[in-house]
Order: sequence, then structure tokens, then C-alpha cells
Amino acid sequence: MKVLITGGAGFLGQRLARELLNRGQLKGPNGQPESISELVLLDVVAATGFEHEARVRVEVGDIAERATLERVIDTQTHTIFHLAAVVSGQAEADFELGMRINLDASRLLLETCRTLGHQPRVVFTSSVAVYGGTLPAVVQDDTALNPQSSYGMQKAVAELLLNDYARRGFVDGRVLRLPTISVRPGKPNAAASSFASGIIREPLNGVTAVCPVAGSTRLWLLSPRKAIACLIAGCEIDAAALGIQRVVNLPGLSVSVDEMIAALREVAGEAVAARIEWQADARVEKIVGSWPGQWDTSRAQQLGLVGDRSFAEVIRSYIEDERISVS
Ligand SMILES: NC(=O)c1ccc[n+]([C@@H]2O[C@H](COP(=O)([O-])OP(=O)(O)OC[C@H]3O[C@@H](n4cnc5c(N)ncnc54)[C@H](O)[C@@H]3O)[C@@H](O)[C@H]2O)c1
Repeated sequence: MKVLITGGAGFLGQRLARELLNRGQLKGPNGQPESISELVLLDVVAATGFEHEARVRVEVGDIAERATLERVIDTQTHTIFHLAAVVSGQAEADFELGMRINLDASRLLLETCRTLGHQPRVVFTSSVAVYGGTLPAVVQDDTALNPQSSYGMQKAVAELLLNDYARRGFVDGRVLRLPTISVRPGKPNAAASSFASGIIREPLNGVTAVCPVAGSTRLWLLSPRKAIACLIAGCEIDAAALGIQRVVNLPGLSVSVDEMIAALREVAGEAVAARIEWQADARVEKIVGSWPGQWDTSRAQQLGLVGDRSFAEVIRSYIEDERISVS
């Protein structure tokens, strides 16, 4: 089986590639495991670290160009993980770029598949940014979409496109709405949710972190490990089990910032947890405060998607993955 990851040099794309190579197989259209013969990693920058992996083909190109998609998708490409995107802050700052990459390119990818006519499995990573405005106390998969950002709108339109291409039988599509991924290694980024990793990552690395929201603020989180496991499990769900509703909210953890810090104290001790300073940021509070706090994940669980058991477990998996020593 040939597998394509768009955004293959990104944070989740790289991790997904490694996990797929470790597994070596994915369920094919008939529900039986098939060996991965080729894994194509498409991105505007070259994915690195796969030089000695014979199954990997690194492709550098712009996903918004038809010729790029025609180069990386053919009738043997049975599985596509469509991760390429510009993130929320960038899509808000540059409307045209967000439209081109998050929306136009998604449609072009679906059109390329429709034209080839081989009905590949397409896994699309959406976001909780599709929700907004007045929300019910508990958000369901089919709660009305009301995005409050251009990024959220672009993801919402791409979701609808994918659902309809699946209904028409052009692709076997799956939309997985990702919670905020925490703990994300590396440096802080421009996302409003960046602190959701920073307040854990920085103290564990001996650095003081600034928390811009109140301790009572609730977040919806999933660890990188479980996010990758859910992308693969989501890809392997039997199409009949999904039915016509191709969109699933992944099973995140609903935790308050205070609970996150208590988990950090439990795992790493008081001295580490004390490396957090509080400095309210009205802009971040407004954005993060508009996100839903409680979710019904029963459908995800019925479909076999498994999240983290506790935020302490999330921190422990970060420490293990990044080989951090906690004395
Ligand atoms: N990480 C999160 O917290 C989170 C939460 C919700 C949804 N998502 C979604 O998950 C997906 C992956 O997220 P991530 O955290 O790995 O992001 P990322 O920014 O690390 O990866 C996205 C990749 O897309 C690539 N890309 C951008 N424009 C491109 C183009 N024109 N052609 C080809 N590639 C292009 C980028 O170079 C980047 O490597 C995205 O669709 C994102 O919207 C992520």
C-alpha cells in the first residue's frame, strides 16, 4: 500500500510517519492489514531524518498546486493523511494564505482523488476552532459549527467538502477534530494555546513559564502520543461504522489550568511547579475562554479511539519521549 502524508515535515506529520514505519502496515479497503510499500512525505520543506528509510519518498512542493498533487497521488495511493495547513495565528494574519492552503488545497486534493476515481481513504485533521459562539454545556460531534476565526471557517468548509465527497463515494473520508496537543516539545509558537504546553514544558526544562489565563480556565487536551494513535485508529475505522457522519471529535481530556499544575506538582515536585508565573493576557483569555470546556466523546470511544487517562500520564509520556531527567 502507498501512503501519503501532506504536511509530512510538520510536528504531527513526522511523528505519524515514524509510527507508520514502526507498524509497517495499515488496514486496507477490505479491512485486512496491508504492508506499507511506500510512504510519501509532502511538505514545503523537506522532511528530514528518513534518509536511510527505503520506504520513504520525501517530496518538496506546494500542496496548493495541482501539479504537486498529481505528482504525489496516483491510483496506488490508497491512504492519505491530509495534515498540511497554516496554523490559526497565521491564517488570521494572512487571509489569502489561509484560504489557499487550508481550503483551496484541500478541495484540490479531493478533486485529484475524484478524478483518479480510486476512492482512497482520506484522513483530515480538523480543529475545535470550528466551534464558537454560544455553545451547549456539553459539545457533541454534531453541535452546530460556528467558527470565530478564518482558520476555523477554513477547517469547517473543508470538513463539509470531505463529508460530501465521502457521501458521493469519491473518497472514503474521515475528519478527526483534534483537541489542543499538549505537551508539545520545542519552542513556544504563535498559537493562543501555546501556553498549554509551555506551562509544563518550560518548568520541566528548568525555565520559568508565564501563564496568561486564570487557573480555572478549562482546556481540551490530547498528548502527541495519543493524537498519533487516534490518527491511525481513525484511518482504520470500518467505513460502515462511521456511516454518513464522517466527523469525529477525538477523545481529549477536559482539564483546568489549576489541575494541569497540580499534575505537574504530582509528577515533578513542588520546585518544578513553582516555576510558573501568572500574568493575565486579555487577548489570550478572550480566545481561549470562547472554546468549549466539556465534550461528549462517547462516539469516539465506541469507534475505538482512545485518549489519555489523566494529565499526569500526559506529562509522564512527555518526559519519556523527550528523555527529560526529573530529580
Ligand atoms: N497541533 C495541534 O495542536 C493541532 C490542533 C488542531 C488541529 N491541528 C491540525 O493538525 C494538522 C497538523 O498540525 P501540526 O501541529 O503538525 O502543524 P505543523 O504546522 O507542525 O505542520 C503543518 C505542516 O504543513 C506544511 N505546509 C504548510 N503549507 C504547505 C503547503 N503549501 N504545501 C505543503 N505543505 C505545507 C508546513 O510546512 C508544516 O510542516 C494541521 O492540519 C493542523 O491544523 C493541529
